[in-house]
Amino acid sequence: MSQISTIGIIGAGQMGNGIAHVAAQQGYQIILHDIAPDALQRALKLIAKNMEREEKKEKITAAQRKAALAAIRPAQSLGEAGAADLVIEAVTESEEVKQSVYKALQPSLREGAILVSNTSSISITKLGAATPWPQRFMGMHFFNPVPIMELVELIPGMATDPAAFSAVEAVALKMGKKPIRTKDASGFIVNRILIPMLNEAAFALHDGVGDTVSIDQGLLLGARHPMGPLTLADYVGLDIVLAVIRVLHRELGDSKYRPCPLLVKLVEAGWLGVKTGKGFYDYSTNPPTPTM
Ligand code: 3HC
Repeated sequence: MSQISTIGIIGAGQMGNGIAHVAAQQGYQIILHDIAPDALQRALKLIAKNMEREEKKEKITAAQRKAALAAIRPAQSLGEAGAADLVIEAVTESEEVKQSVYKALQPSLREGAILVSNTSSISITKLGAATPWPQRFMGMHFFNPVPIMELVELIPGMATDPAAFSAVEAVALKMGKKPIRTKDASGFIVNRILIPMLNEAAFALHDGVGDTVSIDQGLLLGARHPMGPLTLADYVGLDIVLAVIRVLHRELGDSKYRPCPLLVKLVEAGWLGVKTGKGFYDYSTNPPTPTM
């Protein structure tokens, strides 16, 4: 396993830009790629804005901010990011899309390089089997917002080489994260527990158990969660919540994981939460107002 100094990140969305932000601050050279050039530009602006906030709060110095920003190189081609020592795939939560990215990456991946997926729920063993080097493939699951959340789930697949696991664990530690090892089972540890709770909050709203604000207040004040479950679902993205609950439902075969029809309707409407401006709340107002 080669020494990891460059990290290629595929996908500059909410997770990809957060991963680039943290890894660049810890001295890694980052090559950030997204299929959409405007997404790449948005990500770079957001990273700069988040780092400026950290500087204002004196969490980092101006020199550290400049060095970290300079360490992030936007790449128009997938191949540039694929040539790094560690490649972190953080694209859409779709098995098909991820597998097509791995296929396209094949010619550029270097001998000894490690490929990880930030998937929230798809089987690592299955994804790894779609690559020619499942021994150098595993799950590295970050949490949103990446610069704040301390956890990283590390998920070895059936074929993952222990040396690859250790190398990825060392990167997570250097990034200042607290890694936990989880079995390659649907939803891993956190989403297996968290996503059914968010789905259940949607059911509580659907069944009229409480209104949007009461449900959120219930968990904020009654369980001391930092965000109410409907707010958190909007924050994570309702498409992601639905994708994960569908994986749990399909793979564990238990009706308790059936997706809430209201969640399905919101996704069908394109109301995906914060990222589209509307979900359980409407974000065009300050503070956001419930949409139902
Ligand atoms: N990037 C960088 N820093 C950020 C940030 C971002 N995107 N968002 C917030 N922050 C920072 C703020 O600057 C602030 O820093 P400070 O402590 O130095 O002042 C700190 O986070 C707290 O932010 P705020 O004061 O604005 O707001 P809150 O106190 O309400 O905290 C929160 C915001 C950290 C998001 C908090 O509400 C929280 O922890 N929510 C729960 C988040 C959570 O559960 N995430 C996991 C989702 S599941 C997941 O990601 C897995 C996936 O597979 C589905």
